[in-house]
Order: sequence, then C-alpha cells, then structure tokens
Amino acid sequence: MNLRFASAVLFASFAFGCSSDPAPMSGTDAAADAPAADAPAADAPAGDASGPSGEALVMMFGCRNCHQSMNAADGVLSGQTMPRPNTMAYGSNLTPHMTAGLGAWTEDQVIRAIREGMDEGGRSLCRTMPRYGGAPANMTVDQARTIARYLRALPAVDRMIPSSTCP
Ligand code: HEC
Repeated sequence: MNLRFASAVLFASFAFGCSSDPAPMSGTDAAADAPAADAPAADAPAGDASGPSGEALVMMFGCRNCHQSMNAADGVLSGQTMPRPNTMAYGSNLTPHMTAGLGAWTEDQVIRAIREGMDEGGRSLCRTMPRYGGAPANMTVDQARTIARYLRALPAVDRMIPSSTCP
C-alpha cells in the first residue's frame, strides 16, 4: 500500500467515518469496506484495473456521508435534503441528471469541484465540501477522474436538493 493511499484511507476513516452521520448505503466503516484496500497503485491512471474503482474511492473518501440519501429508494449519491449539521449547506445531487444533478457539467468541472471546491462557473463551494486535492486527502487528478467517471455512469436521479447557504 503506498503512502498516499494509506493517508487517504486514514482520512476517510477518521475525518469522515462519522459515527453520528446516517450513511445507510455504506453500512459499515467505509475504509474497511473498500474492496481494493490492498491495491498497490492508488495513483495509477484511470482505467487501470489495478487501481481502486470509482466506487471504492467514493467510499474511501467518505462522499456518501454528505451526498447519500438516507432513503435507499432515492438511489445512489442523489443528495441530502437535510442540511449538514449546524449549517445550511446541503450535500448536492451527484448523479448525471441534467437539471437536478451534474449532467451538464464537464468531467474537468467535476474534477475541479472535488479537488478544489469550485462549482462549474469557478465560484467557491461552501467549505463544508472538502477540498480533496489538498491535505489531508491529497487526492490525485487521476483519482478524481475515476470518481467523476463513476458519477457519470450512475443512474440519473431527478431529485432537487436545496441550494446551500455557506456557514
Ligand atoms: C462533509 C460533507 C461532504 C463530503 C464528505 C463531501 N461533500 Fe461534496 N459537497 C458537500 C456540500 C455541502 C456541497 C454543496 C456546496 C455548495 O453548494 O456550496 C458539496 C458539493 C459537491 C459538488 C458540487 C456539486 C454542485 O452541484 O454544486 C461535487 C461535485 C461534490 N460535492 C462531490 C463530492 C465527492 C466526489 C465527494 C467525495 C470524494 C464529496 N463531495 C464529499 C459536502 C460534502
């Protein structure tokens, strides 16, 4: 296991392995669940079968804590209609729905949102959304691309999430 991958796993389990947070789709500890936890090449190019899958990365980095509905019928990563605790920030719909989700975003815009916390127009997202390109996650562009492609392939869910007011 290389260091970057190890630190991402630690990040996921300690920063976002939220005890109090409802994350029904993840079931148990996200890091422990990740099927590719022993994969040697965390920053292998996207599409390299030896790297973790987009789904595994989503679990490792804890995206479901904030972007997964508590109701399984809402599908995968279609957002949360309850704001994050003590904020008016809502984990948005990450499915490729054209109006309710990321359907109109380019892959590069999604990568930038994940690593740098910017929306499709280059505006800063609420700080509630982690900047995964920085410490402690240090997510690589290739990891973000693998996640972006996984999101793009999800079933589009027509579920409007309120827009966030930043804390
Ligand atoms: C601690 C909570 C939290 C975690 C963990 C989290 N997010 Fe977010 N995310 C948010 C919130 C809240 C917003 C909305 C911010 C805003 O609108 O200003 C957001 C916004 C986004 C956006 C922009 C979408 C849009 O419509 O504006 C993307 C893309 C995104 N998150 C992807 C991810 C991915 C991928 C992960 C895991 C690698 C992740 N997020 C983990 C809280 C979180």
